Amino acid sequence: MEKGDEIIENVDNENKSRDPIEAQKDPAFYTDAAAYWEKVPPTVNGVLGGFEKISSTDIVGSDSFLRGIFRMKNPPSRERVVDCGAGIGRITKNLLVRYFNKVDLVEQCRQFIEKSRENLRSSSKIGNYYCLGLQDFTPNSNFYDIVWVQWVLGHLNDEDLEAFFKRLIPGLKPNGVIVVKENLSGSGEVELDEEDSSVARPESLLLKIFDRAGLKVIKNVLQRNFPKGLYEVRMFCLKPKT
Ligand SMILES: C[S@@+](CC[C@H](N)C(=O)[O-])C[C@H]1O[C@@H](n2cnc3c(N)ncnc32)[C@H](O)[C@@H]1O
Repeated sequence: MEKGDEIIENVDNENKSRDPIEAQKDPAFYTDAAAYWEKVPPTVNGVLGGFEKISSTDIVGSDSFLRGIFRMKNPPSRERVVDCGAGIGRITKNLLVRYFNKVDLVEQCRQFIEKSRENLRSSSKIGNYYCLGLQDFTPNSNFYDIVWVQWVLGHLNDEDLEAFFKRLIPGLKPNGVIVVKENLSGSGEVELDEEDSSVARPESLLLKIFDRAGLKVIKNVLQRNFPKGLYEVRMFCLKPKT
């Protein structure tokens, strides 16, 4: 093979998109994501990937979903919630402190934790800040009325995601629920975002993972009024099967 041919072949390989399933198994899936977020400005626009304009619509949709949960038979109480993958505290500040007496935050990016401390310093409702990846987070037993997990699950591989949900179950109080709000791939396939090292899963896969973790879906609602061209976003309310 001529040298020129070799170079062309290497370029081709680099341009080939990686298999999303294989990419998730690589430890770099986690370290690349952590490195990406460390460089993102600690702003609403930063944590929403340039889509600051959807923040208020997102909060309105979540507010309505949360009120629906409180209207259920045997609703969770409003004592304590945890915001998982909390970023700079956008959801805590605009939603959770309005409904709960205490809010804990879990976020692995140090600069985001610092910013959320600043953003939330006037609130008396903030409990603990955990600077930790969700793959390493285990809640105290019987501790949370709601676990809120939004726009972060694409950073966990399938195995870690199932294990994370399994660890959350003993952390729920009686009537406690998990809320998941996530992007869903519309292609029926797992889609890899090489820029932030995350995946978007099809709804069918997410439902399978909930089921394998021992969770049942008691609400499944589409987020409306987002601009066209974005992933479909759904809100799920999950309860332990037993
Ligand atoms: C798209 S932002 C969403 C932030 C927040 N949930 C919101 O909606 O405003 C994703 C967040 O997940 C965090 N993150 C990424 N991987 C994580 C992991 N393994 N464990 C915990 N947080 C993670 C990032 O640092 C970032 O703050």
